Amino acid sequence: MQRPNRTTGTPVLSGRGLVKRYGTQHALDGVDIDIAAGEAIAIVGPSGSGKTSLLHVLAGILRADAGEIHLAGQRIDQLNESKRSLLRRSEFGFVFQSGMLVAELTAEENAALPLLLSGTSRGDALTAARGWLTRLGLRGKESRRPGELSGGEAQRVAIARALAHQPKVIFADEPTGALDTRTGGETMNALLAAGRETGAAVLVVTHDRDLAAAMPRTVAIRDGRIDVEVPV
Ligand SMILES: Nc1ncnc2c1ncn2[C@@H]1O[C@H](COP(=O)(O)OP(=O)(O)O)[C@@H](O)[C@H]1O
Ligand SMILES: [Mg+2]
Repeated sequence: MQRPNRTTGTPVLSGRGLVKRYGTQHALDGVDIDIAAGEAIAIVGPSGSGKTSLLHVLAGILRADAGEIHLAGQRIDQLNESKRSLLRRSEFGFVFQSGMLVAELTAEENAALPLLLSGTSRGDALTAARGWLTRLGLRGKESRRPGELSGGEAQRVAIARALAHQPKVIFADEPTGALDTRTGGETMNALLAAGRETGAAVLVVTHDRDLAAAMPRTVAIRDGRIDVEVPV
């Protein structure tokens, strides 16, 4: 049975008729998606199906060629680059496949970055970052640089960084792709738990069928279209 691709109430984030082209290639070919506040969704699909494009368009990293995006009921796709950049820093959090941490900064400085960029004082930002690192099991490793952390630890720093400014939506693009199965599972659990704790919606691209199957909602993409919503 297919569930409708909508949620009840005002979604925190919604995309309508999203189209993204690269030349003649349709990376997104008319995608409708609603994400409820606090919801966790797995995005699955073959390589090249448009998963990253969907995340980047929804987050305003890429501009769609057609369609509309609303955040908490407000249209955001027509905002100019500086307003979208502000929005990304304040309302969204990002976790990438392999950390993308700043090599020269410590774990707590990396986790504090979005807060520092949005004008929080250094003291307050580091306190918040340390709190998240503790909750993610990284107490005692606050002063390490990324090169001194394991892959799983680095991803938890990236999760702390994605959460420290309490975003409405966290976008995670294959966050466990570079990790072994067990560490990947732990990292995903940490991400979902952190989302539940902050009330952030979590949109996570994963190739791992088991991880996707454990998520409350799975959206499959094929050739730039929503293929099927796998029911739970
Ligand atoms: N910067 C780009 N330039 C040209 N084509 C791109 C670019 N980014 C993605 N594409 C193409 O768009 C399609 C969707 O890519 P992508 O969203 O990265 O898929 P996925 O994340 O599912 O692997 C693919 O065919 C890919 O080759
Ligand atoms: Mg991708």
